[in-house]
Amino acid sequence: MITIIGSGKVGGDAALFSALRRVDDEILLLDVVNGLPQGEAMDLNHMLSEQGIDVNIRGSNDYSDMKGSKVVVVVAGSGRKPGMTRMDLLKINAGIVKGVVENIKKYADDSIIVPVTNPLDPMVHITYQTSGFDRNRIVGMGGMLDLSRFIQFIHEATGHSRESIRALVIGEHGENMLPLPRFSTVSGIPLSSMLPKEKLDQLVQNTKQVAAKVIELKGATVHAPGNAISAIVDAILKDRKKVIPVATPLNGEYGQSNVSIGVPAVIGRKGVEKIIELDLDVQEKETFQKGIESVKSALAGV
Ligand code: LAC
Repeated sequence: MITIIGSGKVGGDAALFSALRRVDDEILLLDVVNGLPQGEAMDLNHMLSEQGIDVNIRGSNDYSDMKGSKVVVVVAGSGRKPGMTRMDLLKINAGIVKGVVENIKKYADDSIIVPVTNPLDPMVHITYQTSGFDRNRIVGMGGMLDLSRFIQFIHEATGHSRESIRALVIGEHGENMLPLPRFSTVSGIPLSSMLPKEKLDQLVQNTKQVAAKVIELKGATVHAPGNAISAIVDAILKDRKKVIPVATPLNGEYGQSNVSIGVPAVIGRKGVEKIIELDLDVQEKETFQKGIESVKSALAGV
């Protein structure tokens, strides 16, 4: 079973995409709002019935129902409003995430936790500290979402199929995000040999700014985060050994410790099975370091 805590738009979409990927036979939607997870579960089960997919989705307001969960996704908390940064949510969401993680510790203490709540990287570290879980069991969803946007911009700029594009975004899931053209390819051809530097710089900026634009236009980002969550849950439960950028606690990698941030990692049934250290250039290191400092400053404030 997987549990998704937070049954709003993103949580509901994460359940939908996870069911369509058949990541597990059972999905539990949890929320503090009476009726919301139950209604969402019913609506999703009706959709699955027509699809002929025997994944059963349940809704509950009782944390104890998450007993036996192999993976727990944490989406609970407030989302950004137009004009806000993810970091603006720090104070509101830190307390919510701590409370949620205390319940995970109580009812699902051998699960892998996938934090999603923003500001993502500080929430990942708070999850790590509050749960006391080994760090490999903390798999934050941030870079997976950012790279899906980076791929879209590369697709638009080159006209090549999304299927041929492999992109990488690491660092802070926020203002100091680090899309990496040098580590992105089209069918193995380095992106940096396909587009001029000015264009690449523009794609990087677009990737950093597009979530705020979506929020300004439609009020929230929903389908891309929901899908990215399901891709990470799929990699864990299907033991895919996929290399995915995830936010996880560092213990010496990239010369950093006592902080969580987005890094490329091998994702499988144990969660983060190996962190991959890239040979970053001076400018990339600078942006990565800015992200580290932003996350550490946020953590000092809660
Ligand atoms: C976004 C939120 C999930 O980037 O941080 O859409």
